Amino acid sequence: MTTLPGRVNVLLIGSGGREHALAWKLRQSARLGDLWLGDALNPGLAMLGKPVDVPVDPRAPFQIQRFCDTHAIGLVVIGPEEPLAGGLADVLAAPNRAVFGPTADGARLESDKAWSKEFMRAASIPTAEGRAFTDPEAAKAFVRSRPEPWVIKASGLAKGKGVVVPSTIDEGIAAIDAMMTRRSVGEAGTKIVVEERLKGREVSVFALVDGKSIYVLETCRDHKRLGDGGAGPNTGGMGATCPVLGADGKRIVDGHTLSRIEREILLPTVDALRRESIDYRGVLYLGLMLTHAGPKVIEYNVRFGDPECQVLMARLKSDLLDILLATGSRRLEEVNIEWAEGDDGAAAVCVVLAGKGYPGASSQGLPIEGLDRAAALEGVRVFHAGTRRGPNGGAVTHGGRVINIVGVGASVDDARRRAYRAVEQVHFDGKTYRTDIGTDVVG
Ligand code: AMP
Ligand code: GLY
Repeated sequence: MTTLPGRVNVLLIGSGGREHALAWKLRQSARLGDLWLGDALNPGLAMLGKPVDVPVDPRAPFQIQRFCDTHAIGLVVIGPEEPLAGGLADVLAAPNRAVFGPTADGARLESDKAWSKEFMRAASIPTAEGRAFTDPEAAKAFVRSRPEPWVIKASGLAKGKGVVVPSTIDEGIAAIDAMMTRRSVGEAGTKIVVEERLKGREVSVFALVDGKSIYVLETCRDHKRLGDGGAGPNTGGMGATCPVLGADGKRIVDGHTLSRIEREILLPTVDALRRESIDYRGVLYLGLMLTHAGPKVIEYNVRFGDPECQVLMARLKSDLLDILLATGSRRLEEVNIEWAEGDDGAAAVCVVLAGKGYPGASSQGLPIEGLDRAAALEGVRVFHAGTRRGPNGGAVTHGGRVINIVGVGASVDDARRRAYRAVEQVHFDGKTYRTDIGTDVVG
């Protein structure tokens, strides 16, 4: 990869485990100048950069634009979906500044599920059959007319709480009432998508997109359900694995499946974006179901998965700054990404430690112990997600997903053992986690 001379000052937006992992990897780049953080309340992340002292609001962008100019920011990296959907990439792009993350029109792939369903249909991209509704009675009548319970999705952004996979038709009806009538996810549920339930294995595929070309990253698995064996409610993700191996130890997404995903999903998506005059630069995350009829899109996301990003960063050998900068400045053809091999990270497993009660409200302000002990173990990285600095300087819980522990190793089993050894070192009241991350469990 050719490199530009000089250092690059970076502004990173977002404050979860995903952004801590991105910051950790960015810091390894010899070309990194200053790393500025749009939100530095997470103390793990805060240690790696300097806090921005102006509001980061795409609706009132003047101060953050001026900040970027004054501090010669050469690259803005936007981690979460909300600022992307709000148009932060639109207002921060400048001739001498690349942005990693799509503009608001591209972010609609995630922020407007009814639109993205239509987008897929128009481009003949394989996905679940589905329909959008704004009238709850019509949605309920449709659900009742199906022989099987269909999946109910809020069309807008709902912080991972907008999807219900019901096991009965009545549960589906209840979900429609909750979203559309009782507004359980606010405005996001004024429109919903009702879609057929896909069966198969779920994988997360990530492709860098620079407006014209794509570069496919390693495939990951995210374990979405709260409990072992795939039991309990959906969450933002309780753990991730990379690569994704089946019971036979072979990759679930082999070369053949991957080229099918590229041919049938990724390339038609990029073509369709271009037809819509959307200049998409960032990462496109496909939530896929590997069905009997081939890979189908469950959803598009317009950012790295959380916690998939943590395992990707743990395995990435190449310079992240070069990769993100090339993507944001339409130079993806220069990128050649290397992944760690052998003991250094041929595999990575991330275990999420959540607060008691997650995905509902969970307690805040509880002291977290053992983070340093865990991080000192061989092949272990510890990322902060929902944490804050406590009154005596140590980290305390801040609700939701609290800590992410990543084990790396020569094999998935190895990485898994290392991660769980570190999990035992970390303590806080109500620590909740799955014990089967990195196994071949479905769900
Ligand atoms: P999403 O927020 O769209 O990723 O949905 C959350 C989770 O719900 C997904 O990761 C799947 O496990 C599940 N899900 C969503 N849509 C479907 C579908 N059409 N068929 C089966 N499972 C689904
Ligand atoms: N890990 C799922 C997500 O980031 O949406």
